[in-house]
Amino acid sequence: MTIETMTPLLKPVDAALRERAARVIPGGMYGHLNVTLLPASYPQYYRSGDGARLTDVDGNEYIDFMCGFGPMISGYKNPVVEAAAAAQLAEGDALGGPTPRMVELAELLVDTVGPADWAMFGKNGTDATSLAVTIARAATGKRKILKGTTAYHGANAWFNPNPLGSTPEDRANIIYFEFNDITSLEAAAAEAGDDLAGIIVSPFKHDGPADDQRLADVEFARAVRAIADRNSAVLIMDEVRTGFRLVTGSAWEPLGVAPDLIAYSKAIANGYALSAVVGIDSLAQAASDIYATGSFWYSGVAMAAAIANIGLLRETDTPAYMDHVGTLFRTGLQAQAEENGFEIVQSGPAVMPYLRFVGDTDYATALAFSGAAAARGVLLHPVHNWFLSTAHTEADIAEALERTADAFAETRSVIG
Ligand SMILES: Cc1ncc(COP(=O)(O)O)c(C=O)c1O
Repeated sequence: MTIETMTPLLKPVDAALRERAARVIPGGMYGHLNVTLLPASYPQYYRSGDGARLTDVDGNEYIDFMCGFGPMISGYKNPVVEAAAAAQLAEGDALGGPTPRMVELAELLVDTVGPADWAMFGKNGTDATSLAVTIARAATGKRKILKGTTAYHGANAWFNPNPLGSTPEDRANIIYFEFNDITSLEAAAAEAGDDLAGIIVSPFKHDGPADDQRLADVEFARAVRAIADRNSAVLIMDEVRTGFRLVTGSAWEPLGVAPDLIAYSKAIANGYALSAVVGIDSLAQAASDIYATGSFWYSGVAMAAAIANIGLLRETDTPAYMDHVGTLFRTGLQAQAEENGFEIVQSGPAVMPYLRFVGDTDYATALAFSGAAAARGVLLHPVHNWFLSTAHTEADIAEALERTADAFAETRSVIG
């Protein structure tokens, strides 16, 4: 049996949409949501979501461990978030200027995120990381930004991993370091010399697929802070992917390290388009001096959704709950892998787990396993970290594990 012959769920509506898309959308689909490189059992188009479940356009249901690549954290169609969004929509969304929700949300973020004294908003994570870099340069009058070699911080000309369409000049002021490697960070800072504007770093290394995820060493986190301070540079934390999953606040708080700017997006509004940059007092002037705006940046609905969502996330220790269900899933997968004779490495925090098959250099096993899981209604990803949410119940995990047991067995029969 090959990956292609693994009982894909019936998807005629999806197939018809893909055919139409091929005529009117570049490449039929672009960006990281393009499923053409994934096994045939992955749908391209979805109809709806509910709790931790997704339904594709053909009516197939999946227990979803991708959460829209991060935005869903409190469950699809969360009634509290949806009620807040609907109430705001009834009043209006993109009006002549912001609604009171903007001030309320900024107050809530300042109250929730330790280092934050102010907040400003955009739509996508790239808006937030670009704004943060611009603020750092405006505040310091310097140019160089240090970034992890393979770290993803968005799709602008500075950071896009695919250089096609950008110029060497766009990236001339980016200097690279290795995550958790203080020596390489020191070398990058030395290269920047007296032109170091900022260091952008994610709370943990989550930029596979070639590598396992790595949590930050406390020494590394402290060195990032110290090097930024020594050079009067800005420490930018990119929490676009991790925000409110690791910590309801700032991710390096448990390590005792506070960034100067934090970029959030994905999960803050539980699926509504919103990003935020929060920062310390001394950067407020630069943040107000730069030209930062977008036609939809002030829309009220996503902000209302964020207020409700962050309110829910603050009610209980939601990172601990997500860690609990993530650990249950991870423990079950480990046992199943062993039962089927696979050596796997599971890395990163359990709320954003990553699974790799040892020796699977061409990802054939990862593709076979994720394809077999999708064919059984469990949505994982072969080379990207997965996400847990507060909507994943222990029963969801148990049901998903029943299905992945079969997926591992099928993978063994495919891979041999
Ligand atoms: C760490 C990180 N930073 C920035 C971004 C860019 O966010 P967006 O795709 O919303 O522009 C992403 C997106 O995956 C991300 O994971």
